[in-house]
Amino acid sequence: MRALVTGGAGFIGSHLCEFLLKNGWQVVCLDNFITGRPSNVSQLQNNPGFMFTEQDAIKRVDVSGSVDYVFHLASPASPVDYLTFPVQTLEAGAMGTRNALELAKDKKAVLLLASTSEVYGDPLVHPQKEEYWGNVNPVGLRSVYDEAKRFAEALTTEYGRSQGVSIRIARIFNTFGTRMRLNDGRVVPNFIYQALNNEPITVYGDGSQTRSFCYVDDLVQGLYKLALSDFREPVNLGNPVEMSVLNFAKLIIKITGSRSEIIYRPLPADDPRQRQPDITKAKNILQWEPKIGIEDGLARTIAWFKMHMKPGGAGPLTKESVIEALRDVTDPELGISVVDLELIKDVEIQKQEKGELVKIKMTLTTPNCPLLGYMVQSVKERIEGIPGVVSADVELIF
Ligand SMILES: NC(=O)c1ccc[n+]([C@@H]2O[C@H](COP(=O)([O-])OP(=O)(O)OC[C@H]3O[C@@H](n4cnc5c(N)ncnc54)[C@H](O)[C@@H]3O)[C@@H](O)[C@H]2O)c1
Repeated sequence: MRALVTGGAGFIGSHLCEFLLKNGWQVVCLDNFITGRPSNVSQLQNNPGFMFTEQDAIKRVDVSGSVDYVFHLASPASPVDYLTFPVQTLEAGAMGTRNALELAKDKKAVLLLASTSEVYGDPLVHPQKEEYWGNVNPVGLRSVYDEAKRFAEALTTEYGRSQGVSIRIARIFNTFGTRMRLNDGRVVPNFIYQALNNEPITVYGDGSQTRSFCYVDDLVQGLYKLALSDFREPVNLGNPVEMSVLNFAKLIIKITGSRSEIIYRPLPADDPRQRQPDITKAKNILQWEPKIGIEDGLARTIAWFKMHMKPGGAGPLTKESVIEALRDVTDPELGISVVDLELIKDVEIQKQEKGELVKIKMTLTTPNCPLLGYMVQSVKERIEGIPGVVSADVELIF
C-alpha cells in the first residue's frame, strides 16, 4: 500500500507516517511546515519506504506514482496556530481539502479527512454522537477552524456522493503525546511545561470545564482502522474518559512531582464547557477503543518533554546546553547527529528584550549537499523550540 499523508510533519501526521511505515506501507509525506517541523520526520528519512515533499496543500497536491490512501491532515490545529494563521486555516479546510480530494479522485484512492470534535462547537448534547449537528458560532474567533472543518466535511461528503471518491471522516477529539510543540497553546504541553518548571499552572475559568484526552498511539490506530474499513460517514475518535481541566492540572502536578501552584485566568470566548466523545460507532464498526490510560500517556509525554525541553530545565541557556539539544538533529542520509559529525563550530547566545537570540555557526564539508536547507531548518527549529529562545540564526561556513 502507498499512502499520502498531508500534514505529515505535524504532531499526529508524523506518528501516522511512522505507524504506516512500520506496517510495511510506503509513505509520501506532504507538508509546508506552517506548524509542523522537519525534525518530526527526520528519523524516517533513511527509510526507503518514506518520501517527503514540501508543498502547500492550498496551492496543489501533486504526487507521482500510485496512491492507495490519502490521509488529509494538513491544517493548523491548535488554537494558537489557527488564530495566528486564520486565513490559511480556512484555506486549508477549503482549497487544501479540495486539492486532496482531486488527487484521491485521479488516483482512485480512499481519502480520510482528519476532522475534529470542534465541528460540534460548544455542544448542547453530552456526550457527542456523530448525529449531533453542533452548536457553532459562525463568526466567533474559533470559527476559522470550526467552519473550515465543517466545510471540509461537507466537501468530502459531496465528493463521496457525486465524484466517486471513497471517503472516510474521522472526528478527532483532543489528542496528546510526544512531539507536541511546547508553545502550541494546547492544554497538555502548557501544563507539562509549567509543572516541569515549577511555574504556576494557568487554568482558564474555574477549571470545571471538561476535556477528554486520547493518547496519540491510540488515535493513530483508530485512523488506520477507519481508513481500512468501508464506513463512509463521520466517526468520533477520542478517549471518552472525561476529566475537568482543574483535575487534569492536579494530575500533572502529581505525576511530575512539581511544586507548581494553580492560578486562574478568565475563560476565552467560545471555549467549550464540555467535550466528550461517544465512541459507540468506533467500537462497533472498527472494534476500536483507546487502550492507553491518561496516566500512562502522560508519563510517556512528560518523559519526552523532559528530554526535549531546554537542557537543565528552566535554568539559563548555555553554549553547552544548545550543543546538547542539537544532538537530536541528524544528517538524514547518514543518520548521525550533527554534533557527532562535528558540524557545529560555534554557538553564541545574545540576551534580548523578548528572550534569547542564538547564533550558530555550522560548517559543511559538501557545499552542494541537497539536504543542506533541510538540515539548517532542523537546527533552527530545534533551537527555536527551546522555551525562551526568540530566534536562531544559522551561519554556514564552507
Ligand atoms: N491534535 C488534536 O488534538 C486534534 C484534534 C482534532 C483534529 N485534529 C486534526 O488533525 C490534524 C493534525 O493535527 P496536529 O495536532 O497534528 O496539528 P499540527 O499543527 O502538528 O499538524 C498539522 C500539519 O499540517 C501542516 N499544514 C498545515 N497547513 C498546510 C498546508 N496548507 N499545506 C501543507 N501542510 C500544511 C502543518 O505544517 C503541520 O505539519 C489537523 O487536521 C487537525 O485539525 C487534531
